[in-house]
Amino acid sequence: MAYAIEAQGLRKTFKHHEAVRGVDLTIRQGELFALLGPNGAGKSTTIHMLTTLVRPDGGTASVCGYDVVKQAAAVRERISVTGQYAALDESLTGWQNLLLFAGLHGYSGKEARGLAEELLDSFHLADASHRPVSTYSGGMRRRMDLAVGTLSQPEVMFLDEPTTGLDPQSRLELWQSVRQLVKQGTTVLLTTQYLEEADQLADRIGFITQGRVIAVDTPEQLKEANGGKKLTIRLSEGAKAESAKIRQLLFSKYGLPIQSDYEERVISVRLQEPALAHSIIGTFMEQSIGFEDFALHDPTLDDVYFALTANGEKEVVL
Ligand SMILES: Nc1ncnc2c1ncn2[C@@H]1O[C@H](COP(=O)(O)OP(=O)(O)OP(=O)(O)O)[C@@H](O)[C@H]1O
Ligand SMILES: [Mg+2]
Repeated sequence: MAYAIEAQGLRKTFKHHEAVRGVDLTIRQGELFALLGPNGAGKSTTIHMLTTLVRPDGGTASVCGYDVVKQAAAVRERISVTGQYAALDESLTGWQNLLLFAGLHGYSGKEARGLAEELLDSFHLADASHRPVSTYSGGMRRRMDLAVGTLSQPEVMFLDEPTTGLDPQSRLELWQSVRQLVKQGTTVLLTTQYLEEADQLADRIGFITQGRVIAVDTPEQLKEANGGKKLTIRLSEGAKAESAKIRQLLFSKYGLPIQSDYEERVISVRLQEPALAHSIIGTFMEQSIGFEDFALHDPTLDDVYFALTANGEKEVVL
């Protein structure tokens, strides 16, 4: 099978700091892969090496079959990176920017106009097409970046934290645009700090921390294997004093360790088997333990992060 991106043992050290410590990745053509990790995990440095902007200190990587060091020019011809090459001209309108960049990519005036119209439509920017980019919101600007990025017809697009700083609505709109790119056959590698984003968009997630990819899996499996569901129960004011007793009860009956907040009012347990929630709530009612509400939800990035790091550094490759 042809891989769009392949990396083996990729490393980068800045002065004495090992930013990337042996990253292995294989990303299929047409796949949407999310590199998920906290601040300083090595996401951007990995992207910079794969996009030929930073030279690796060790390991190898290829994009579209071309080596990122020895065949950097061939790689650059086939990729686009948001925020890097799409240096939008603030004083020009969206429409003018697209015409300008289309011209730079060798399209004739007529082709450029047709393409600009198409892109403004599909990236939901038609209404703002005749306003200077300097007046665009953060979300519109990111979509404009993506639109310009597609002009070179890249086989692989790299999006480094495309939604950081966007409000929920703009984030949803950007997700739509990213999904559309993938539908058209583009391979996308995006980085994010949000589990929800990776969950919503990605075919597979690589979880990166401290310069190493410690798990690669589908969103469902990553969450199931490392977070399960989380049951959170808010105790009533009266039951708060009994939290030690409740802790013991849950541990002896279900073998579940409890996490609780600093006031011991909100307790939560990780459930590999979500149906157990019924039984736990039943036990609370039988024993007349007062609670105000409860919720069963997916693990957060923190939950997966703690579960993965608590289990030691293991790699789960599909
Ligand atoms: N040019 C540089 N010089 C020195 N240290 C660097 C440089 N670039 C990155 N680092 C360090 O390498 C580590 C990884 O940085 P990187 O930018 O790859 O993380 P990241 O996962 O993209 O984080 P964020 O989510 O904050 O963007 C960090 O500790 C960072 O301080
Ligand atoms: Mg970064």
